[in-house]
Amino acid sequence: MVDSSISKFFEKSLKERLGIVADFSGLSQDELKIIESATGGISYNEADSMIENAIGTFSLPLGIATNFRINDKDYLIPMVIEEPSVIAAASKAAKIARIHGGFKAKSEQSYSIGQIQIVNVDVQSSIPKVIGASTEILNLANSKSNTLSKLGKGAKEVSCKDIQTDSGHMLIVELLIDVGDAMGANVTNTMCEAVAPLIEKLTNVSAVFDKDAIGGENIVDDMILAFQFAENDPYRAVTHNKGVMNGTISVANATGQDSRAIEAAAHAYAAKSGSYRSLTKWAKDSNGNLVGDFELPLSVGIVGGVIQHHPIAKICTKILGVSSANELSCIMATAGLAQNFAAMYALATEGIQKGHMKLHARKEGKN
Ligand code: MEV
Repeated sequence: MVDSSISKFFEKSLKERLGIVADFSGLSQDELKIIESATGGISYNEADSMIENAIGTFSLPLGIATNFRINDKDYLIPMVIEEPSVIAAASKAAKIARIHGGFKAKSEQSYSIGQIQIVNVDVQSSIPKVIGASTEILNLANSKSNTLSKLGKGAKEVSCKDIQTDSGHMLIVELLIDVGDAMGANVTNTMCEAVAPLIEKLTNVSAVFDKDAIGGENIVDDMILAFQFAENDPYRAVTHNKGVMNGTISVANATGQDSRAIEAAAHAYAAKSGSYRSLTKWAKDSNGNLVGDFELPLSVGIVGGVIQHHPIAKICTKILGVSSANELSCIMATAGLAQNFAAMYALATEGIQKGHMKLHARKEGKN
């Protein structure tokens, strides 16, 4: 098995780092050249074909988090982020998680829910009519995507709900669409001309962090107190969840995902109890080790979207060696949990600021 626990990756030269990544994931010379060219991967013309009114491109740092083992497979995780310490912290958390076998993650199949808002109708009498016409609605929706239909995926179910608003009752017809490995927002829109496509794919990751590697049971207890603070105070929860997103979004950026959709869904999920809470849950197991768990709805794709146009997003997906959108979801959730572990560890020990400064000093060779 290829091992992602690469000693002192941060001390290596760019050439050595790229060599390690290329060996790990079978990158070609051409792919290495694209990363090294330092243009950020896309030309002005490509940028101009992606958005309106383009005047240039904008680069961010791309780094590699080491030590990750997820579901018994090793990964080098590309992260695009401007903030120092995030990649070092994630790699450190992953090193500790390896002691007890690494991260265990699972992701449900990719379903998208397309919503159609219907106003000015008698909602209660309309619902049975819509449900009665389910087959026709599904056939019509599926006629909009040959690709999904050929794969045996596409719109699977029609349901209705009645919501009460200040403007009266509204009928919301929902199409449950199996979007396979596509992110699905576009096909969902096409299928139901929805006002708000909502992708739901619950991804869950957990890991055991060894108490001795953390520094003892006292620190485990203090980390649980830090979690309870975030779980019960929305102000702290916002910063805590921001730290989680440091991990998840930097992988989303590297692989060309829609980070706004991911953030919006994650924060809505954090408020599902009616109060804004921690996205992660932390507890102690019977051996005194720290156990972390993170669940969130993720919308990701490994075909179509930005990945089709952005060579570096394509290369990052290759570095990860993922074969499905579900696998990528598991990695994104894992990076979030690892990052949150590192932030809580810093809080329970030397403090966030000092932890950051120490990493900076080490980078500059002062420590
Ligand atoms: C910094 O980007 C994020 C943290 O502040 C998160 C936290 O405090 O939990 C380290």
